[in-house]
Amino acid sequence: MNANETTPYPDRAGTPPGWWRDAVIYQIYPRSFADSDGDGVGDLPGITARLGHLADLGVDAVWLSPFYPSPQADAGYDVADYRDVDPLFGRLEDADKLIAQARALGLRVIVDLVPNHTSAAHPWFAAALADAPGGPARGRYVFRDGRGPAGDEPPNSWQSVFGGPAWTRVTEPDGTPGQWYLHLFDVGQPDLNWDNPEVRAEFLDILRFWLDRGVDGFRVDVAHGLIKQADLADWSGPSEMLSGEGIDKPQPPMWDQDGVHEIYRSWRALLDSYPGDRILVAEAWVEPAERLARYVRPDEMHQAFNFEYLLASWTAPAQYAVITRSLEAADAVGAPTTWVLSNHDVIRHASRLALPVGTPRPNGIGIGDPQPDPALGLRRARAATLLMLSLPGSAYLYQGEELGLPEHTTLPDEARQDPTWTRSGHTVRGRDGCRVPIPWDADAPSYGFGPTDASWLPQPPVWAEYALDRQRGVPGSTYELYRSALRLRRESGLGGGECAWLPSGDDVLAFRNGRLGVLTNFGADPVPLPDGARVLLSSGPLDPRGVPTDVTAWYV
Ligand code: GLC
Ligand code: MG
Repeated sequence: MNANETTPYPDRAGTPPGWWRDAVIYQIYPRSFADSDGDGVGDLPGITARLGHLADLGVDAVWLSPFYPSPQADAGYDVADYRDVDPLFGRLEDADKLIAQARALGLRVIVDLVPNHTSAAHPWFAAALADAPGGPARGRYVFRDGRGPAGDEPPNSWQSVFGGPAWTRVTEPDGTPGQWYLHLFDVGQPDLNWDNPEVRAEFLDILRFWLDRGVDGFRVDVAHGLIKQADLADWSGPSEMLSGEGIDKPQPPMWDQDGVHEIYRSWRALLDSYPGDRILVAEAWVEPAERLARYVRPDEMHQAFNFEYLLASWTAPAQYAVITRSLEAADAVGAPTTWVLSNHDVIRHASRLALPVGTPRPNGIGIGDPQPDPALGLRRARAATLLMLSLPGSAYLYQGEELGLPEHTTLPDEARQDPTWTRSGHTVRGRDGCRVPIPWDADAPSYGFGPTDASWLPQPPVWAEYALDRQRGVPGSTYELYRSALRLRRESGLGGGECAWLPSGDDVLAFRNGRLGVLTNFGADPVPLPDGARVLLSSGPLDPRGVPTDVTAWYV
């Protein structure tokens, strides 16, 4: 197909049903992938020009973080128009070209849908501000009167995920101090009222808009947040949605309310009415695995990121527990599991896995903080990735992890853009360290990210060592490890297989998946492989005595 041509309902012939069940899906963070025009911000034409790299790497699909018109208060997760492209990233035709080029290369395309909140610059919010309290335009958002005699205290005690109160007071059209609106995230991200039928109808229409343009699915942002407990009861538990291990047990009134599921059933019905196999993947920070599995029941979403896995400690018992629990919970609803180690919201796993076991997971690392050891982190990251890619189910990769990129842990604080840094009163550094534009060519300006030196976040000098051109064709490089792993995974049908656990020591994970044996050693001493085993791939050099510490081996 000519990359410049697009048709509505593009030909879906050749889409195998259930392609997503074992797919490896690569997350593109558009601002930081490839910059075509040299303004220092990645863009859609930059992505289209580099899609060949991803086909070559061997992934099945890409997921793009938001590229819609936005004031960029939260890097595009504040959407002002759900049916267009921000000029920063290109034009709507550029999205069409990207989708067509991906299809020509055999890659499927998933876009990001942000239904929990709009941008404050969305026309609906302007209408809400101009409307009177109780008016229909206010009814699309969550407006309430304040507490206290003068109404100058927030309606409840909720805190924003990024820090500070989750409510902001507005000035009424007549100039008087007025009602408050809810924003679980930044002030620039007012929460929508999903009890309002108009909101539901609007999002079905947005889904149709992108389905008609040929996308293969949607990653649903904050999928566990749309419905709030009706009484908006006070809450003094943790305010971050990334709480993970050790999350407070009482049900927070803003997350994982039962009412979200009927929304996803209606979306599933819409997707199923389209040709081809289009998917929904939930970003839902929900524990335990049984509750997360409710998002992937047969008539709801297809996938839900397994964040419990992402957050699990790097020890054999922790990994064994999370893997078996996840497989059981997903099996119970007939869904595959969706493994993930890194994304644009967490410390890259090549740095995170070097943090001492048991330390609380920081939200960002900066100058003056204890620094993770890059060599240890990379060694463990490679072992973790090879373990993940051998597991049955689908897996998501985050751009740059195939290069072994670490977190940028010494980003100057003045350069930080994540609203978390300012909203936390400069106490929580936030997510910029995993969002730095990625290196393609060691010796080019901006390491080949774009044609100029410009880069919206400064790139560290170590980027040269990790650049793609230093790794492509180099045996043992992280890039070649990913490429080989993806090829073997496909050839051996690992994604559609099963884990058959083998007896092993306390510091070892060992199982068979089909014809392949998999062994990860978390302990200090090398672990021998069975007699006659032939190693097909290993995440690090083997020791004459066996698989060394922090190494995964695949063998037959
Ligand atoms: C999701 C996104 C994150 C964003 C938040 C608010 O967690 O992944 O980047 O800040 O939602 O939209
Ligand atoms: Mg650009």
